[in-house]
Amino acid sequence: MKTIASHNGLKATAESWRLLAAGRSALDACVEGVTQVEDDPDDLTVGYGGLPNEDGVVELDAAVMDGRTHLGGAVAGLRDVRHATRVARLVMEHTSRVLLVGEGARQFALAHGFVAENLLTEQARRMWLYWKRRRSTLDDWLTPAEDEDLELRAWYEKRFYRPEFPGGTGMPGGTVHCSALDGEGHLACATSTSGHAFKLAGRVGDSPILGAGLYVDNQVGSCGSIGHGEANLRHLSSFLAVELMRGGREPVDAGLEVLRRIVDKTPPRERDAAGRPTFQLMLFLLRRDGSHAGVSLHAGRQLAVADATGQRLEACASLWD
Ligand code: GLY
Repeated sequence: MKTIASHNGLKATAESWRLLAAGRSALDACVEGVTQVEDDPDDLTVGYGGLPNEDGVVELDAAVMDGRTHLGGAVAGLRDVRHATRVARLVMEHTSRVLLVGEGARQFALAHGFVAENLLTEQARRMWLYWKRRRSTLDDWLTPAEDEDLELRAWYEKRFYRPEFPGGTGMPGGTVHCSALDGEGHLACATSTSGHAFKLAGRVGDSPILGAGLYVDNQVGSCGSIGHGEANLRHLSSFLAVELMRGGREPVDAGLEVLRRIVDKTPPRERDAAGRPTFQLMLFLLRRDGSHAGVSLHAGRQLAVADATGQRLEACASLWD
């Protein structure tokens, strides 16, 4: 048994491992694990407290996939309902469909008893308005003074201003992914996100797309990703990683090969002067024999792991130091 998650998924692996150890399925483990992160108002990239779209509305994407049945379920652009991953599971288990979006996904969730609430926390609202005031000098919003809201300024500069990537978005990826291998040898995975901060309304990333933000094949392994979703959408990265493992690659080699292919086809507008992508991307791979890896484009990233030896953060292998 084992469970792995993105760096922000320590709560996910703790809950996931607790359920696996109690004999529950890999699907239960990763869905309930990710739900813990959706409840955390301090994670600005997932569920309640996630940063909103450019109109100030939180729109969530999430998906689950069950290796035992090879079925999947997903929601995209879900408003007002924080437990997007549980809703995605119900799409898989109660319908013949895979993906529900927008108002349809919301109505589906409400029909199943999920509570509608405002997902925009006070912290996220303030960040959104600060971003609006900083984004341009050509609109109606006045740029905050140098000494105004120093905490927000520090957050903004760290997240959105990266002199090493002039012209790039400089946006690090958020999102939470969790994969699990249960005591019966079945695999499952889940990915949940509020998407890129201040995205265009209606933008859907890779997280709810099977094969892009997550994929599992019980005969091979599982993979999920966080970071720049458009790169995963263009490469079906999670599917590709599982297929490379099927072909005999070790998890770390499969993950790095996916990243190399993405780099190879990254458009000029998303590269820095040295040709490196201006975005970050991470893949988390769990093979059916229990071996695992986390890989990232740029160094300094971690993954969360829980197994019989305990819970820990491990370093991701990266293409660049
Ligand atoms: N990987 C999350 C997103 O791009 O929305």
